[in-house]
Amino acid sequence: MFELKPLVHASKREHYDELVRQARGLLAGERNLIANAANFAAVVFHSLPELNWAGFYLFDGNELVVGPFQGKPACIRIALGRGVCGTAAQTRETQLVRNVNAFDGHIACDAASQAEIVVPLILPDGRLLGVWDVDSPVIDRFDEDDRAGMQALCAVFMEALRG
Ligand code: SME
Repeated sequence: MFELKPLVHASKREHYDELVRQARGLLAGERNLIANAANFAAVVFHSLPELNWAGFYLFDGNELVVGPFQGKPACIRIALGRGVCGTAAQTRETQLVRNVNAFDGHIACDAASQAEIVVPLILPDGRLLGVWDVDSPVIDRFDEDDRAGMQALCAVFMEALRG
């Protein structure tokens, strides 16, 4: 049984380092996409402060479709290029949005969301798997340490799928 240990660290970077270790342990030995995505969303959502949504949008070959997540029910389909998620998917670059009100085209699934990070998930052969999306109800909740931390976590997720 996986035990979610409380993360109490001096710095945000150390906190992410420990969370990366926990995520690696949680996903080790399992390659099922939905199982890993569900557990990954749960461990991140319950290990970081001030999040109101954390989850996946998976690419179905045409658009992004909501996948495993923690938080309130969300928009189901997002076209490439639309919103923060669609922008991350199309540009294949992590989107760090400190204030969603200043992001042209932001899709407000939950009116509480004020800040967001979306990381594109690219398979080894270059195909788009989807995106990883975290929302916060606090403006300026996310900074460059969060961008690096989320990218490190997503690397663990993608690594686990390869087995
Ligand atoms: N805000 C996102 C939509 C997804 S929800 O945040 C869960 C966007 O603009 O793409």
